Amino acid sequence: MSHIVAIAGSTAEQSKSTDLLKRILAQVEAYGFSTQLLSVRDIPAQELIYGAGKDSPHLNHVTGQIERAAGVIVASPVYKASYSGALKAFLDLLPQKSLAEKIVLPIMTAGSSKHLLAIDYALKPVLTALGATHVLNGFFVSDDLIQRDPYGLLSLDDEAEARLREQVRALVFAAGLPAPQKDYEPTEY
Ligand SMILES: Cc1cc2nc3c(=O)[nH]c(=O)nc-3n(C[C@H](O)[C@H](O)[C@H](O)COP(=O)(O)O)c2cc1C
Repeated sequence: MSHIVAIAGSTAEQSKSTDLLKRILAQVEAYGFSTQLLSVRDIPAQELIYGAGKDSPHLNHVTGQIERAAGVIVASPVYKASYSGALKAFLDLLPQKSLAEKIVLPIMTAGSSKHLLAIDYALKPVLTALGATHVLNGFFVSDDLIQRDPYGLLSLDDEAEARLREQVRALVFAAGLPAPQKDYEPTEY
């Protein structure tokens, strides 16, 4: 499995956390992975709120992508000291252990660094509830460290960029390790 998916948890049309994910996926692709960006906006509000049936093409697309992925990046803005409500509604639609055996990278953007720990006390527990056992440290960045150029392209200050690249490397190396074959016998020397 050399596929990595990203889940964007912001409902904003022009979203810092989603644009950050797009940059991360470009970095991941440079390591040879195929990628897919998923978003809470991919699922109609009606299905997010009232539930999506098993025949929902939107939900089937999302679950199919997650199933074939070795790694899942989950990004959310901090809203009211936690991850977004839309992300919770999205995650609630997924099968119980959807993140089992996936390498998971949590990402959060926020108005200020005061809510730095939201990634640990809010986002990581729900990822664990979805079966994730390999959750990376994650990446948190406040808005003042994010810039947009006149064309709308997003960049980070140097320190934040270095932290992000370290997490991306951790993701791709963990996701890229080949699974041992069932009948594998170690060579004896
Ligand atoms: C409804 C709402 C609630 C927010 N609550 C917080 C908060 O509690 N703490 C914080 O640091 N930033 C808060 N913010 C700021 C966002 O987390 C921040 O601007 C983030 O980068 C937005 O990401 P997005 O553009 O992907 O939606 C809030 C923004 C909105 C719209």
